[in-house]
Amino acid sequence: MIILSIETSCDETAVSIVEATHTGEGFPHMRFTVLGDALFSQIETHRQYGGVYPNAAKREHILTIIPMLEKALSEAKLQSLPHTTLFPEQKEKVRSLLTREDGLAEQLFSFFERYNTPAVDLIAVTHGPGLEPALWVGINVAQALGILWNVPVKGINHMEGHIFSSLFDGEKITPIAFPALALLISGGHTELVLMKEWGSYELIGKTRDDAVGEAFDKVARTLGLPYPGGPEISKRAEVHRNKGLPPQLKFPRPMIDSSDCDFSFSGLKTAVLYHVKNREFSENERDEIACAFEDAVADVLIKKTERAILSTYAATLILGGGVSANKHIRTTFASMIQEQYPHITLYLPSPRLTTDNAVMIALAAYAHDASIPDNTPLTAHGNLSVSGVKKSLS
Ligand code: KG4
Ligand code: ZN
Repeated sequence: MIILSIETSCDETAVSIVEATHTGEGFPHMRFTVLGDALFSQIETHRQYGGVYPNAAKREHILTIIPMLEKALSEAKLQSLPHTTLFPEQKEKVRSLLTREDGLAEQLFSFFERYNTPAVDLIAVTHGPGLEPALWVGINVAQALGILWNVPVKGINHMEGHIFSSLFDGEKITPIAFPALALLISGGHTELVLMKEWGSYELIGKTRDDAVGEAFDKVARTLGLPYPGGPEISKRAEVHRNKGLPPQLKFPRPMIDSSDCDFSFSGLKTAVLYHVKNREFSENERDEIACAFEDAVADVLIKKTERAILSTYAATLILGGGVSANKHIRTTFASMIQEQYPHITLYLPSPRLTTDNAVMIALAAYAHDASIPDNTPLTAHGNLSVSGVKKSLS
């Protein structure tokens, strides 16, 4: 089976083609081959605004999604001539789907007229959570391709994708021990999710205000560092950490002792803001502030995850989402597991699959019964929760 997947939930335009062959009964007993993987990051565009504006992201997706589709298909050697002829009814349907994506229908027709229908069995597309104008581009292209190629289209939850990113070793999804706990930390989300079996998700904790990645991005801005702030803060903090002196500063750790698994990062962000307000600071001081901020974030994440481990008897811990690229957070979690919970296996995403990508969307689609076509028209759900994912495993 070959799945073509599309991811446009935020500022990455990604298309991938993943083939799976069964190595045993059902999921995850499959070998995955990434036949094509194309990704365009819009970071340069958004850097000038200091963040991602949904309509700017939508515009960029419209400009790059067809080139990414072509790139992924050509890498997968699935582009073949001669071209196919489009019927006027097909064109009409596609045009009416893409009325809000200016110029995209014409780009699709020109693409379609150049290449034959590829041997793709299913199209999987992120339908939430994310920025709705951005999500719609991927959804509408997926639905248009579904019509043109006569292939079923399936909506996939972006956060579920991040979980599979962490479990993928480039060839297979590791069969994990349940219950598994996933800490998902990204630009838009901070969630603790309990998995009792494949495809079943229970939200046991989430942020009440800012997501961790959002806090990193906002604090970076306060410190005069460019977007995206996470990697910048991480670099500055590491410079301080390498000096071997713990920061003199200590920022608050909001909700660290609350008796639940929820998070709050807006107070921490504001504390950094007040600390630097109307004040000059040297590079050394900036590095120390970044380090103190990163320490506070890591402490809160560790403490809340430990609380969740103890209450769920988790046998597996999965870290996922863009912020799990953070070196300090990765090493802090690795030491915590090694020293205090050696019976738990920790999974971290590979650098390539840490930030948004389309491979994870194809993997998540395989976790559901990919052979059952889902004919319900897709909608962009900005706040789609992972606990709403329907269990339908192959
Ligand atoms: O998962 P992702 O690529 O997109 C969303 O789904 O939001 O996550 C992006 C977020 C951004 O906020 C970015 O600043 C953060 O991940 N990030 C990091 C690091 N690399 C990316 N945060 C902390 N440390 C990093 N090294
Ligand atoms: Zn993400």
